[in-house]
Parts: sequence; C-alpha cells; structure tokens
Amino acid sequence: MKAVVYKKPFEVAVETVPDPQIGHPNDAIVKITSSCICGSDLHMYEGRTAAEPGIVFGHENMGVIVEIGSAVKDRKVGDRVVMPFNVACGFCKNCLGGYTGFCTTVNPGFAGGAYGYVSMGPWVGGQAELMQVPFADFNCLPLPEGTDYEADFALLADIFPTGYHGTELAGVTPGERVAVFGAGPVGLMAAYSAVLRGASTVFSVDHVQERLDKAAEIGAIPINYDDSNPVDQIKSHLDGDGVDKGIDAVGYQATSAGSSAAGGEQDEVPNIVLNQLIDVVNPTGALGIPGLYVPSDPGGVDERAKHGALAINFGQLFEKGLRLGTGQCNVKQYNAHLRDLIIADRAKPSFVVSHEIALDEAPAAYKKFDRREDGYTKVILHP
Ligand SMILES: NC(=O)c1ccc[n+]([C@@H]2O[C@H](COP(=O)([O-])OP(=O)(O)OC[C@H]3O[C@@H](n4cnc5c(N)ncnc54)[C@H](O)[C@@H]3O)[C@@H](O)[C@H]2O)c1
Ligand SMILES: [Zn+2]
Ligand SMILES: [Zn+2]
Repeated sequence: MKAVVYKKPFEVAVETVPDPQIGHPNDAIVKITSSCICGSDLHMYEGRTAAEPGIVFGHENMGVIVEIGSAVKDRKVGDRVVMPFNVACGFCKNCLGGYTGFCTTVNPGFAGGAYGYVSMGPWVGGQAELMQVPFADFNCLPLPEGTDYEADFALLADIFPTGYHGTELAGVTPGERVAVFGAGPVGLMAAYSAVLRGASTVFSVDHVQERLDKAAEIGAIPINYDDSNPVDQIKSHLDGDGVDKGIDAVGYQATSAGSSAAGGEQDEVPNIVLNQLIDVVNPTGALGIPGLYVPSDPGGVDERAKHGALAINFGQLFEKGLRLGTGQCNVKQYNAHLRDLIIADRAKPSFVVSHEIALDEAPAAYKKFDRREDGYTKVILHP
C-alpha cells in the first residue's frame, strides 16, 4: 500500500510499504478514507523529537473496516469508524479509570500509545491506504454509514476531543471568561468547545491572521500577539480584569511576539504561554494545557529546554491558587458525545478544515502546513 513515510527533518515521501495484517484475533484492518495532518506531526517532521526515519505518520484516522480478527465481536466488515489517536486496551488500570491516553498495555514500559507517533508504540500510522487497529471493539468508534459529515467525524480522532479536553482540564463552566492561547486546529477546537460549554467571552490568541479570522467566525475575540502583549490586550477588553480560565493550545514550540510565522529563524520561547496564562487568569482560576511539552527536545533553545525543564512563575501560580491540568487527551472520554453533537447539527468542527487532498500531495502539504502558509490550518488526506 501507499503511505506517508518520514525521511528526515522537513521531508516526508509517499512510498510503498507492506500492507497491514491481522496479527491478533482482536485486530481489524481499516481502509482509510480520511487521515489528517496534525500540529503534533510537525514536531516529528521538524526533527524536534526522537523520531527515526521510516515512521509512517498518521494518528487522526477514519475509514471503513475491511477485515476483522476472529475475536472482534461488536465491529464488523463494512462499519464506518473513527479511531481515537490513543491506542488503548480498555482493561488496564488507566483505561478502566477512563485514562485511555495512558494505557499501560499497548506500549509496554510506557503509559500511552498512538498510531504513527514516536515513543508511542509499534502502531503504524494511517496516512496510508490501510491501517491495523488493535483491540478493535474498543478502538473503533462507530459512525453512521455513508459519507455525510466526513470532515467533522475525522476530527473526532484527535483535535475536537483534544480542544474539548483543554476546556475540561480548565473546568470551563457556563458564563466564564476564557483565554485560549494558540489558534491552530487544537486552539480553535478549544475556543469552539468553550463556546459550546457556555463561556460568556472567549479570547483566541495567535499571530496567524487566517487562524484569528476563523476564531472570530465562531464568536471568539481575536488577539494578535504581534501587536502587543496579549495579556494587556485581553485585560484592556475587561476593564483591567483577567479571565476565569486559560488554555494553552500552543505547547513548547511557542514563539515570542514579532517572530516570523514563516518557518526558519523563529524566536522560540518555550515558557512564554504558560507564564502569560498564569498572568492573565484570575486568582482561584484554572489552566488547561493540552499543548505538548516533551521531556527530551534535541532542538531545545537551551540546555534546560533540551530536557523539557522550563522556568515557570510558580510563585505567582501558588499565590493565585491556580489549578492546572495537562497531558494527552483521553479521546474516548469525549468522542461518542462529540459525535452525537455533530449528528444533531449542534457542532460543526470542520470549520477548521482548510484543505482536503490526495495522499500523493502530502509532501507538499507538510511543507506549507509547517510554514502555516496559504491558509493551511487543517489538512485532511483522502488516500
Ligand atoms: N494533549 C493532546 O492530546 C494533544 C493532541 C493534539 C495536539 N496536541 C498539541 O497541541 C498543540 C497545538 O496543536 P495544533 O495542531 O493546533 O498545532 P499548530 O502548530 O497548528 O498550532 C499552534 C499555534 O500556536 C501559535 N502560537 C505560537 N506561539 C504562540 C504564542 N506565544 N501565543 C499564542 N499562540 C502561539 C502558532 O502560530 C500556531 O497557530 C501542539 O503542541 C500539539 O502537539 C496535543
Ligand atoms: Zn493530532
Ligand atoms: Zn489500557
């Protein structure tokens, strides 16, 4: 089959790789109809992780089951399904607690597995024609048959639940004021989820104009951090007050104001968003941090950053009595409910999708998405 293979920093290629096989009676093989490129893929693409050449990318996958192992009971050939990016067993201690992002079965020695991702186990990614899904009854979310809502459903694999997770980690409740840093796909989904949860005011901070425009479309107040300090801008909208809740949908590759959005020499400041959130959230508030931070970053800006050690204003955090939550999204906690919001036409997350293209176009799309150019916000590959 054809698949998107990581070759070296800033290069992927579409190559022929072995077809996946039923390796265990619990497996299913899914013919992929949609697989998205994610901001998380870019960390590997840019050589900012320990990813080795040869990995098939793709953790945001949906499609139709074409083969099942003898032990698969609830799913059947022909089912249209979307797979959480977390590969999980359903029966380990963490899975039983709902923490399927921290499954201890699927990636021995580590809590958490994913398709096509460095350090997340042997699971081959779905930016390909076919994909093997282990524990298929658990890992396949059934969808209505047909082709309706394809782009919306594809986002149930990761970014819609992950954005929602940001609001859950921050405990967003009706009427609250929320600041979301990052208006990439995850940040837009977090802002959208805050709106769905009844936030009274949502700020969306970024410096990519197309992304800020999308945030404005869903009723968020766009804040361009290239203009001036985003904390001051937010407070000036609130007569000097801060917000109740804050969400970091940027992660460790945050850049400072004025830095170029077009790749190359960016002024990277890995702690800037965390410290701005601590500044802008009011005492007793909370921070949701779905943005990725890593314990090992070969390209870290300094010795400490190379080990994921960041200087954060813990004194101010303590003084304000702020709570914070981090980590991989446990997609299964939310995906069925979010699917039903889509089917009921109460949510349309596909407003973030900017490009739908064939698998062969992936190498060019990675380049453009990496530079956030030509309005590349969210790309769906249709193998
Ligand atoms: N926790 C999870 O389960 C999970 C799942 C998916 C993605 N992620 C992570 O979420 C983050 C966002 O993902 P994405 O796909 O939206 O990525 P993305 O790279 O497309 O978006 C990040 C956005 O942050 C903006 N940004 C950079 N510095 C900023 C700053 N100082 N202030 C405000 N905005 C700033 C960038 O311009 C960009 O638009 C990534 O770190 C990704 O790895 C986490
Ligand atoms: Zn993703
Ligand atoms: Zn498990």
